[in-house]
Amino acid sequence: MRLDKNNSEYSKLAKLFHWGFVLLFIYGVAKQVEDINQLEDTTFFRFEIIFALIFIFLLIIRVIYMKTTQKTSIPEDTPRAQKISAKIVHNSMYILLFCTALSGLVIGFLFWLEYKNSFLINIVIWLHEIIINLLYCFVGIHILAAIYHRLKKDGVWSSMVPFMKEKKY
Ligand code: HEM
Ligand code: HEM
Repeated sequence: MRLDKNNSEYSKLAKLFHWGFVLLFIYGVAKQVEDINQLEDTTFFRFEIIFALIFIFLLIIRVIYMKTTQKTSIPEDTPRAQKISAKIVHNSMYILLFCTALSGLVIGFLFWLEYKNSFLINIVIWLHEIIINLLYCFVGIHILAAIYHRLKKDGVWSSMVPFMKEKKY
């Protein structure tokens, strides 16, 4: 299919948000809290809280920007079920990214309130971990879908991914 038949190409800012968040998320996972006792370190604790607050702030700006200015590059003639699935996966990733940082903040708040070994904090840590694992699943599905579109050469891949772009005719 010709590339110029696409609905859209994402703006530079949309791409910056998308790839910036991929890096931010990888960084957040790489420097994850390994053990709750690490939060006793005040500098580490403060950094975690500030990181999560900035993460949520940027995410809200991203969602507002994306929903008001951009539209999916999935071609018009894509089956309805596939369009709906893409919407569900994208929105689920947004919700899970938000809930990851929010549940982290709740853990921080309970820790600050001295509920360090309480049943409540263990429940929230458990929720935090479930949310992150669900997010891994959705990101996995999302990447598989992106590769599927690359193989299909319908322009969806090239609208967002800066490498292995489809050739323009
Ligand atoms: C965007 C922000 C955050 C990201 C991406 C993130 C990421 C992670 C990841 C990947 C894990 C490991 C999950 C697993 O093993 O399945 C984890 C665990 C955890 N996180 Fe976060 N986190 C964030 C914010 C926070 C904040 C703000 C706090 C608290 C101040 C926090 C406290 C914890 C704790 C206590 C654990 C469990 C550690 C243990 O296994 O004992 N997280 N986080
Ligand atoms: C943490 C990892 C990732 C997250 C959370 C994520 C999230 C998203 C979201 C929410 C969208 C919808 C557009 C938007 O609102 O920005 C999107 C679009 C897209 N992403 Fe990702 N993404 C991730 C990684 C990747 C990777 C690794 C690839 C490719 C190798 C990729 C390829 C694409 C493509 C091609 C689109 C356009 C889809 C369309 O127009 O319907 N993403 N991504």
